[in-house]
Amino acid sequence: MIVTIDGPAGSGKSSTAREVARRLGFRHLDSGAFYRALTYAALAAGIPPERWPELSAADLDAFQVHATLAERGYRLLVGDTDVSDRIRSPEVNANVSRIARIPAVRGWLLERLRDAARGTDLVADGRDLGTVVFPDADLKIFLVADPTERARRRLAEQGVTTPSAGELAAEVERLTLRDRIDSEREIAPLTKPADAVVLDTTTLDFDEQVERVVALVRARQRGARD
Ligand code: DC
Repeated sequence: MIVTIDGPAGSGKSSTAREVARRLGFRHLDSGAFYRALTYAALAAGIPPERWPELSAADLDAFQVHATLAERGYRLLVGDTDVSDRIRSPEVNANVSRIARIPAVRGWLLERLRDAARGTDLVADGRDLGTVVFPDADLKIFLVADPTERARRRLAEQGVTTPSAGELAAEVERLTLRDRIDSEREIAPLTKPADAVVLDTTTLDFDEQVERVVALVRARQRGARD
């Protein structure tokens, strides 16, 4: 069974997908981590972002970005180095949208994301998982949340639990900019799949949000059995 969870930055996709997968015994695929690992590799190779649109499939191969199975998900490596911790840096945050809008990058990753899904029950999260990567997914969820709430969650993830008004406003601005780049790009933009269930998480706490998704998956599994 494949469950996709798409939505804008900070809507809680990855943390929700991870916990839903854990409760159901599925594997979790965080597709954003793949874009982040490529961004990290391109920056580490010293290639300036202006030149990223020229990257060919062979250049992308040469970065040696790959995923290995981790306990319930995937671990991202560049060569032999586990980059799971390095792909959440401010530098990667600031540049990942630029790599994600390059057609050659998306084509290259499409195969790898589909390969990763073979032979396992999966909860996959990202921006185009229900529209492009797994258009035949068994259940598609689209998470939305108010931008201020999303900014608050993003800051809390970074350890800023009581942000000042200025910090919050700056984070809202960063998220809104990233949403705009992700939604307006020509290739695989962030859009709600026509057959997705929309879940607004603004007023839900984490456990409620996870429970809602788990309930939807179980209902779908029952439906498939009947
Ligand atoms: O979910 P995230 O913040 O880790 O995603 C990082 C970036 O990757 C984000 O700017 C959008 C992009 N992305 C994408 O374009 N398509 C996906 N399926 C997943 C992420």
